[in-house]
Amino acid sequence: MKRERKLLRVGMLGCGVVGAEVARLMVANQDDLAARSGAGLEIVKISVRDLSIPRPGIAAELFTTDSESIVNDPNIDLVIEVMGGIEPARHLILTAMKNGKAVVTANKALLAKHGAELFHASDEADVDFYYEAAVAGAIPILRPLAESLVGDRVERVMGIINGTTNYILTKMHEDGTSFEDALNEAQLLGYAEADPTADIESFDAAAKAAILAGLAFHTQVTDEDVYREGISKITSDDVAVAKEMGFVIKLLAIAEANEVHGSDEETITVRVHPTMIPKNHPLASVREAFNAVFVQCQSAGELMFYGRGAGGVPTASAILGDLVAVARNRIEGSLGPTETDYADLDIAPMGVTKTRYLIRLEVMDVPGVLASVAATFAMNDVSILTVRQDGRGADAELIVLTHIATEAALASTVDQLAKLHVVKDVLSVIRVEGVPV
Ligand code: HSE
Repeated sequence: MKRERKLLRVGMLGCGVVGAEVARLMVANQDDLAARSGAGLEIVKISVRDLSIPRPGIAAELFTTDSESIVNDPNIDLVIEVMGGIEPARHLILTAMKNGKAVVTANKALLAKHGAELFHASDEADVDFYYEAAVAGAIPILRPLAESLVGDRVERVMGIINGTTNYILTKMHEDGTSFEDALNEAQLLGYAEADPTADIESFDAAAKAAILAGLAFHTQVTDEDVYREGISKITSDDVAVAKEMGFVIKLLAIAEANEVHGSDEETITVRVHPTMIPKNHPLASVREAFNAVFVQCQSAGELMFYGRGAGGVPTASAILGDLVAVARNRIEGSLGPTETDYADLDIAPMGVTKTRYLIRLEVMDVPGVLASVAATFAMNDVSILTVRQDGRGADAELIVLTHIATEAALASTVDQLAKLHVVKDVLSVIRVEGVPV
């Protein structure tokens, strides 16, 4: 005899580009979603700010402006939060959890600021809290870190986790487009917002990096712990030099474990900045608005996760995956894995990070320039790998690629270089990763 299928009622907070696709796909794929969940999944209420905006394909009677009525509705079992921002999303999620509802969210900014509070609240309330869509859109990366790789030891996570900036940098690299023109193009295509600050100054990527680092290293990491640089200072000249030297410039988020010299202790650093990588590195082939996350583990070795990091339909895929997972758990009376921050590693200051650097200097083209520049590197214990000089009349450009050095040593080198009489300008300093040692 066929058992009667249970029905789980879903409420959604927000109905923008992602929410509208979630609602549409829940209806279009309802039979498959029900068969996979073991329960019917019915979207019963959606809160929006403005009821007058047309949302074709979604039944008008589902909409309300009253989000509280969703998180306090005893008939709603699961809540999807896609409104974004910190408040009221934080308060609404906490209320939903207290009221025994499982929560699925795509809200990276909220997780990066208040993750610990939300994980604690879901533990206290014995409800599931899933957020795969918060980092890298459709790409399954959070559950692989939290579940598939949890038996391994992650050493490093390095990713392209902002599609807008990757689109801009791809245009600059492949078409020689200026930063401003590439940004305009990204805005016209709908990748970049009218105010592009969150993307181009790496706030978006820093929030995602904090979430990735927390899972990878079992440590509480917030967006404040992430060293952040944007791409707005990258010039066409930087891109041309990178290209000539066989590199590609990408905005990379890097979370890594650092050994503390002379002890068994480990710290982590988390950073987001423009980075040169060799053109044959797997991340170099990630073009346009695609994302990819490269994970290095002690036992699994190197893995790469690639796909669409944004957009309504791809992000809805991750949300529906979470929805089915929490529905299955609810039917079985179980809960998914909870966050572990047992390792509680210290987050080291950026100064201890070790990497390579490419420094472009505008110098006077006179005898002795190379000697004083080289001496400044040597004084700071920064070893030079290659130096290139491009002459330009009375001036010249020196392009110095270093061996691995600490950020602290590099910062002091750059300070002193800027004070040298023969150095007219420090044109740029870009970190270099992925060069075989
Ligand atoms: N603005 C983000 C990006 C969207 O460009 O990747 C997803 O967070």
